[in-house]
Amino acid sequence: MAIERTFSIIKPDAVAKNHIGAIYNRFESAGLKIVAAKMVHLTKEQAEGFYAEHSERPFFGALVSFMTSGPIMVQVLEGENAVAANREIMGATNPAQAARGTLRADYADSIDENAVHGSDALASAEREIAYFFAADEICPRTR
Ligand code: TYD
Ligand code: MG
Repeated sequence: MAIERTFSIIKPDAVAKNHIGAIYNRFESAGLKIVAAKMVHLTKEQAEGFYAEHSERPFFGALVSFMTSGPIMVQVLEGENAVAANREIMGATNPAQAARGTLRADYADSIDENAVHGSDALASAEREIAYFFAADEICPRTR
């Protein structure tokens, strides 16, 4: 098993509903360590840049508008197979299809306001971590 880092966002809907602590509890209970974290309120340009791969999709404008509608928590999670582990904790993109006990089943209201983001591959994790965090903002765990 490989120790990986992945990038996670608690989106504006879940922050607004005071679910930050509950979601962090899920990460930590699953053995993922939070090695960097901060609250930010994205500008339109930051949100567009982060989701650039979706710029041609019909939902892009609504996605950017939602992601800039309030503060978010951004964090780096570290652990065994962290990328896939976090995707499993999150559940499917559409909460109506998310497995029971996943974050999106429990905290998301709709496919467009779905509580959390998580990197979908190691390469995107590296890019997304670098989008939000300088190297010296990530704290390796020695214990
Ligand atoms: P995507 O990368 O497909 O999902 P995931 O977040 O599970 O990796 O899409 C990115 C985000 O775009 C998704 O979390 C919510 C939004 N979105 C919509 O609003 N409508 C849609 O039909 C899809 C596919 C995504
Ligand atoms: Mg995605």
